[in-house]
Amino acid sequence: MSPLDFSVEELENLFDLANDIEVNQDKYQDACAGKILATCFYEPSTRTRLSFESAMLRMGGSVLGFSDAGSSSASKGESVSDTIRMISCYANICAMRHHKEGAPMVAAGKSSIPVINAGDGGHQHPTQTLTDLLTIRSLKGRLGNFTIGLCGDLKFGRTVHSLIHALERYAGIKFIFISPEELRVPDYITDSLKNKKIPFEEVIRLDDVISQLDFLYMTRVQKERFFNEEDYVRLKDFYILDKAKMSNAKADMLVLHPLPRVNEIAVDIDEDPRAAYFRQVQYGVYVRMALILTLLEYTGGIKC
Ligand code: CP
Repeated sequence: MSPLDFSVEELENLFDLANDIEVNQDKYQDACAGKILATCFYEPSTRTRLSFESAMLRMGGSVLGFSDAGSSSASKGESVSDTIRMISCYANICAMRHHKEGAPMVAAGKSSIPVINAGDGGHQHPTQTLTDLLTIRSLKGRLGNFTIGLCGDLKFGRTVHSLIHALERYAGIKFIFISPEELRVPDYITDSLKNKKIPFEEVIRLDDVISQLDFLYMTRVQKERFFNEEDYVRLKDFYILDKAKMSNAKADMLVLHPLPRVNEIAVDIDEDPRAAYFRQVQYGVYVRMALILTLLEYTGGIKC
């Protein structure tokens, strides 16, 4: 699935469910009893895999899967299409991360159970976007009418691509893309924004724009997507958000980050009330609980 598989109205329903789960967790503790989630991760992950597993376990379901392609039969040459046909016999729903763009979509085409894209190469990361949208909506009460700065690796950062794609459906959004020239957001995205007349700017210096932002979405330079180490080393510390930079930001600007963090946010910013990235992680569990329930057609009172 991708965030755009849901209409704006369906997303609102998903987020309402996630917020209900947040305040009424006991109500959902057996909602997935007897159901199994498979996590098929061909690429490393901490948050996405464990938050999916936590989500299923918190609803009384079970989990199985692999966290590394090397420990699966992919290492013997098995295709994703064959693997998902097996997984469909073992589980009721699957979350898949893959280094190849489009692999979860290929799997979904061969699967008899719902397959959730948990990140595919440099392409998309839909459930991170659901996490980001729920965080924004929960902390600001709305999903439109703000200026969001996206900073760092906008070329390879799949979370950025998914978030832009999702936010462009809401009114009053202005994007400010902050990146070095080499890590600019791909042309297919800026071309799409131009066609839809959605306002955006591209700048190199964070200091020049931070005072305009309602949200600052920081990202890590994606070491694993670079073709050579030299370029990565040159660009990895291009942006470091520190107290001096934060002193120019609005008093209510929120800092988001999909995590993991490397150096791009100084650790002393964690104590700043505007740092929202660890709250974002918690919302990631609630929204994945809501997503699992929705895809398994939970109807409240009836077990999924
Ligand atoms: N945000 C995110 O995708 O983190 P992981 O790579 O740890 O899953």
